[in-house]
Amino acid sequence: MIIRETPLSPLFGARLEGIDLRADHSPAVMGAIEAALDKYAVVALPGQFLDDDTQLIISEQLGDLSRALNHGRAKTQSARLRAELYDISNLDENHGILGEADRRRQWRESDKLWHTDRSFIDAATSYSLLSARVTPPEKGDTGFADMRAAYDDLPDETKARIANLRCEHSVWWSRALCGGKDFRDDEIASMPPVTQPLVRVHPRTGRKSVVLASHASHILDMPRADGRVLLDELMAFATRPQYVFYYKWSVGDLVIWDNRCTMHRGTSFDDAAYKRDMRRTTVQGPSKYGAMAAAE
Ligand code: OGA
Ligand code: MN
Repeated sequence: MIIRETPLSPLFGARLEGIDLRADHSPAVMGAIEAALDKYAVVALPGQFLDDDTQLIISEQLGDLSRALNHGRAKTQSARLRAELYDISNLDENHGILGEADRRRQWRESDKLWHTDRSFIDAATSYSLLSARVTPPEKGDTGFADMRAAYDDLPDETKARIANLRCEHSVWWSRALCGGKDFRDDEIASMPPVTQPLVRVHPRTGRKSVVLASHASHILDMPRADGRVLLDELMAFATRPQYVFYYKWSVGDLVIWDNRCTMHRGTSFDDAAYKRDMRRTTVQGPSKYGAMAAAE
C-alpha cells in the first residue's frame, strides 16, 4: 500500500491517493487513514464510489455508528435512507428534488452555518464520513475550519479565560437561527440541549481545540450577552481565511473529518434545479480496527 498525501491547504486537510476502500479496508488501511486524520483532521479519498453497505462497514471500523434522528421530516414522511445513513441531500423519499415548502429544506439550510456534527448530542462523536453519490454541476462546495490552529493562535489571555468554560449546545438553537420554527414537542424532546467544554484536548493527539458550532447557544455561568459576545468573537477569529479551505466535490469522493478538532459548513447551489445526493455516516467512541485485527 503506497499512499500519496497531497495537502488541501497550508494548515490542514489532505487528499489521499492509493487507497481503494471497496477492495481493501483492512486494519492496515484504516490505521493509515486514521493516522492521516490525526495529522490533517480532514482527508479526501477521491474515486471510492462507495455503496451504502461498504460505507457502513468502513465507518464501523472507526467507531460506533450513530443513528440519524428525524432530520426535519413531517410525521407522514418516511426516510429516504436507513437510519445509520444521514441524508445530506435535497431529495425526498422518492429521490425527487424536495418541494419548496418541505420542512426538510430548513434542516439542510442550517448546515450552511459553521458547525460540528452532533455536538448537540451527549456522545463522544468523532468522525463523519461523507460520500458523494450525485453532485451538482457547479457550487455546493463544503468548507472546513481547523480548530486546533485557531486555538493555538488565540492570545494567552483568551486561552486562560476560556480554559474552564462550558457551553450549552442545542440543535433547536441552530435551526432557529435559520428561521426554523414550529418544532414539534416530540422533536424537541428527542434532542434536549447538552453541555460541551469550550476547549477540548484531543484524545488521540493531545492537541487542544476551541469547541465552537452554530449549535452553541450560550456560555454557562456567564451573563447571556457576555457569553454571546465571547462566542461570536471566537467564531469570527476561528473562521478567518487562514484556517479555512473549501472542498470541491466529484462523484465518488469520500471525505472524512474529525469533529473533535474541525468545523465545517455547506454552501449554496441551485437546489431547485440540480440533485445533490450526499450520504453521511457519523461515529462515536474509539476506533475498532485494531481490535478487529487482534480478533482475526
Ligand atoms: C454534513 C454537512 C455540508 C455539505 O454532511 O454534516 O454539514 O456541504 N454537510 O453537505
Ligand atoms: Mn454537518
